Amino acid sequence: MSDPFTSPGSKAPPKPFTVTEGQRRVRSFVLRQGRFTPAQQRAFDALWPRFGIDYQGQVRDFDTLFGRSAPLIVEIGFGNGAAFRHSCLLDPARDHIGIEVHAPGVGRLLNALDNDGIGNARLYHHDAVEVLENEIADGSLDEVRIYFPDPWHKKRHNKRRLVNPEFAALLVRKLAANGRLHLATDWQDYAEQMWDVLDATPGLVNRSGARGHLPRPAWRPQTHFETRGQNLGHGVWDMIYDRCALPESPSQ
Ligand SMILES: C[S@@+](CC[C@H](N)C(=O)[O-])C[C@H]1O[C@@H](n2cnc3c(N)ncnc32)[C@H](O)[C@@H]1O
Repeated sequence: MSDPFTSPGSKAPPKPFTVTEGQRRVRSFVLRQGRFTPAQQRAFDALWPRFGIDYQGQVRDFDTLFGRSAPLIVEIGFGNGAAFRHSCLLDPARDHIGIEVHAPGVGRLLNALDNDGIGNARLYHHDAVEVLENEIADGSLDEVRIYFPDPWHKKRHNKRRLVNPEFAALLVRKLAANGRLHLATDWQDYAEQMWDVLDATPGLVNRSGARGHLPRPAWRPQTHFETRGQNLGHGVWDMIYDRCALPESPSQ
């Protein structure tokens, strides 16, 4: 696969993910270079050492990284980072880990975190599936947020959707007892898939009952992709799932 960040003449932001040789997986994103501004490049150069976490493929000690022991929130695919930034300011008692593959969004958020003097945030510029699998300890997350994941609405692309049974089981493993999962989508067909998958996932309970959703909670500001969806006449579905005990496996 050609790497959009190393094509001739492009200003190359840090490579967002590593591809292990011989390992091909269906990913929930396709990298597009997009517009990467000099300000975003400067943000990477100057602010990555302060806010960035380089993917290493080993379980992290976030208490050491943040310099305190606090509940952890992970936001997957934060886009331009508006909801993430809002939450860091609103919820200073919890530490926030943002994961995004789109370099311009990471650059924008780095600048915002710096402007606001935010201390309870760190960012990965990497595939969230690999970060969860390899860098986050089991049972360690207080909350996972996935706001307006790419809908991959064409039938032949549905397989790229992030929320699938394997990913749901991974989330259950990473959430702490009594942790929660908050999702939002503006695609009815994806909402249906989320219910199909998550209502059937052992260890998760839909707070609104089977195939239920809630109004947008106060901690989630309206996001860019939500506005775009509303302009297209889409609805919005917020769903919260609580992590509950797994059913006991039958004794031998
Ligand atoms: C439709 S956008 C939504 C952005 C933002 N949450 C919002 O509501 O405006 C989905 C985002 O998820 C990111 N994304 C998709 N798959 C990802 C993955 N596996 N790891 C990290 N980011 C991912 C994309 O780069 C994109 O920015």
